[in-house]
Amino acid sequence: MSVRLRPLWPLVAALVIWYAQSTWSFTPEQVTAGRTAYEQNCSSCHGANLRQLPEALLAGREFVAAWGSRGTNELVDRMRTTMPLGNPGGLPEETYAAIAAYVLQFNGGGNNGQLLTARTTTRISDAVTSGAATPGRAPAVPAGRTGITVAGTVPNFLPVTEAMLRTPKPDDWLMLRHDYAATSYSPLTQITAGNVAQLELAWMWPMREGGTNQPAPLVYNGTMYLANTGGIVQALNAQTGKLIWEYAVGAEVAPRGLVLYENKLIFHSAAAWALNKQDGYLVALDARTGQQVWKVQMPDVYASNSGPLLANGLLIQGMGTCAIYEENKCFISAYDPATGQQRWRFRTTALSGEPGGDPLEAKRSPCAQATVARKGHRSYPRRDS
Ligand code: HEC
Repeated sequence: MSVRLRPLWPLVAALVIWYAQSTWSFTPEQVTAGRTAYEQNCSSCHGANLRQLPEALLAGREFVAAWGSRGTNELVDRMRTTMPLGNPGGLPEETYAAIAAYVLQFNGGGNNGQLLTARTTTRISDAVTSGAATPGRAPAVPAGRTGITVAGTVPNFLPVTEAMLRTPKPDDWLMLRHDYAATSYSPLTQITAGNVAQLELAWMWPMREGGTNQPAPLVYNGTMYLANTGGIVQALNAQTGKLIWEYAVGAEVAPRGLVLYENKLIFHSAAAWALNKQDGYLVALDARTGQQVWKVQMPDVYASNSGPLLANGLLIQGMGTCAIYEENKCFISAYDPATGQQRWRFRTTALSGEPGGDPLEAKRSPCAQATVARKGHRSYPRRDS
């Protein structure tokens, strides 16, 4: 027996060593602190899923491929000497270590309760089991479940006119910030400093699990229009909280800003926020029934988390995340509310090669500067904000 077992010992020893190395040294407290610091200093560019910048993925297979053979000290060092972009070294050393701990845990690593420091040299791949490192993306909307999912009709609907949008009735809220001056102020007077303490819960309506969530519902003539998470658009009776109709887009809806105009509810939608190119849509539903009126792909428009605004008979849409995809940066564009066809585009800065284009490059965002720098073009000093 002992003769047969003996040859296994080296293997067992190797497994013990492998196992000992496969737990990263960091503490749960570091992960918590690292997450907060990441959200404050890094996620605006790298995203909550750590995968918003395709060229600097901090989670997933690509991250492991790029960093696996290096030590955690190198990762901390890289963060400390180059990040946050525009302010390298701007955080305390232990904060960089904590962010590294958060990144390692996000990639599937378990902690062993030992403090990760700038000098810890654990090999990064040692903690990543294959397949563990799937990006933390919001769950996709179930395939096939698109179109009207609850049928109903908004009673007494009258078309929304531009005059109404310009001078909204006190009990309506017809655009993201209430009015074109973006006051976000309701002129209603029933609730006062004297009676606010008597407010009671009238009804509750759940937001769905998963997806992004920064809802800004509209209210028109007693009906509330809500972009719920996961691409679900709903019309509710604002008095009772009862669902009138529901429409599943099959993609995310830009969480800020719906347009109500004439008989339509119009919004921006993109399949996977900031991850795929050529992916932005405008969708118009019949505000009375939720039936789709049109859906168009917006030429060269990517994701945006702001929805359109109606002004002077056109839908005006800004863009986001363009710097991720190309050197030609975002533009503002306008669409026909009747058909969704693009009418014009406007770039707020001249492009390189156009008159006045090159000096203005200095005004590009730090993200863009880095992209340009990496591609071998000139890079520019950071503007002080
Ligand atoms: C203003 C946008 C921005 C911010 C904020 C930012 N980064 Fe970056 N980061 C980038 C860009 C762009 C790159 C790729 C270009 C480069 O490497 O310089 C990058 C690259 C990286 C890399 C290298 C990835 C690789 O595989 O090469 C790491 C690690 C990193 N960032 C971590 C952080 C951390 C940690 C923070 C917060 C403390 C942070 N970043 C904040 C834009 C940003």
